[in-house]
Amino acid sequence: MALENDQATDRDAVVDPLRPGPDDAFAGLGIDEGSPLAAEMISTERKRRSLESQDFPRPRKTRVFAVTNQKGGVGKTTSTVNVAAALASQGAHVLVIDSDPQGNASTALGAEHRSGTPSIYDVLLEDMPIEDAAQVCPDIPTLWCVPATIDLAGADVELVSLNRREYRLRDAVTRLLETRGDDLDYILIDCPPSLGLLTLNALVVASEVLIPIQCEYYALEGLTQLIHTIDMVTKHLNPELHISTIVLTMYDQRTNLAREVANEVRTHFPSQTLEQTVPRSVRVSEAPGFGKTVITHDPRSSGAVAYLAVARDIAVRGAAEAEKQK
Ligand SMILES: Nc1ncnc2c1ncn2[C@@H]1O[C@H](COP(=O)(O)OP(=O)(O)O)[C@@H](O)[C@H]1O
Ligand SMILES: [Mg+2]
Repeated sequence: MALENDQATDRDAVVDPLRPGPDDAFAGLGIDEGSPLAAEMISTERKRRSLESQDFPRPRKTRVFAVTNQKGGVGKTTSTVNVAAALASQGAHVLVIDSDPQGNASTALGAEHRSGTPSIYDVLLEDMPIEDAAQVCPDIPTLWCVPATIDLAGADVELVSLNRREYRLRDAVTRLLETRGDDLDYILIDCPPSLGLLTLNALVVASEVLIPIQCEYYALEGLTQLIHTIDMVTKHLNPELHISTIVLTMYDQRTNLAREVANEVRTHFPSQTLEQTVPRSVRVSEAPGFGKTVITHDPRSSGAVAYLAVARDIAVRGAAEAEKQK
């Protein structure tokens, strides 16, 4: 099958960014590639150009991801918005559902999320159609966001007394896909740092779980509980659910600790853990302050290029998986 062959050559180009291409823009410029900083910048820029010229296969059927890890501060929101923006910047139609009362994903996507704005709260508790709450992202016309407002803070408790409380999001997404399914490639749900009903609703509608893991002490703590929850959901509520993707975030390759954590994660999840890691980058952390993702804030930065590579891996792996199941 042609896809797999293309994939092999494309991947080679991605993993060896230092290798100048035939029309290398930096050849003959006399830049001292011996300087580590210059070499890194050139390598990042080569990788960006190579990635942007590659195909990001669009799925035949909408892929729904729950981005979750009950630990806070591990990069859930950052990964959600930047993977979404990277996929959308390459032509995919992407919807981000912000399901964390903090509304950080809404901020990064430039979505209005003052209290009272139509939001995921209305979708979950008032049966508002997703289309009525979704806002188009000001920077990327194929990226939408259902924002979260502070009203969501009580939702975990308010949901308890509702009918089909675990299925509220699934019901809303099913209604959306019945009308918009053909032109929506990805839905990414940014979960709060807990395993309550908001996260459960995301796990019941998703078929894939994306787990960001920060390469720090205690990175794996709590993972057993998360996996147990996912197993229970798979068994009782949503048999399609599986952990498809693990992204190592805020990775500092110079430290032994980061390398050890990464090795441990790869040992436990060899097929799920992406080769591409996301480095700690100031551009990534400052982007939300501008109401932007790093993909639009500074597309040439190492963080943006890393997320572009993560997005491509996700697109390519999904296409390969779909091909296998044919
Ligand atoms: N690659 C990165 N480089 C620098 N800062 C990062 C990176 N990823 C996340 N951060 C920062 O770490 C903090 C936690 O990230 P966030 O995505 O909000 O985590 P979570 O959603 O899991 O709580 C935020 O301040 C964010 O800006
Ligand atoms: Mg978050």
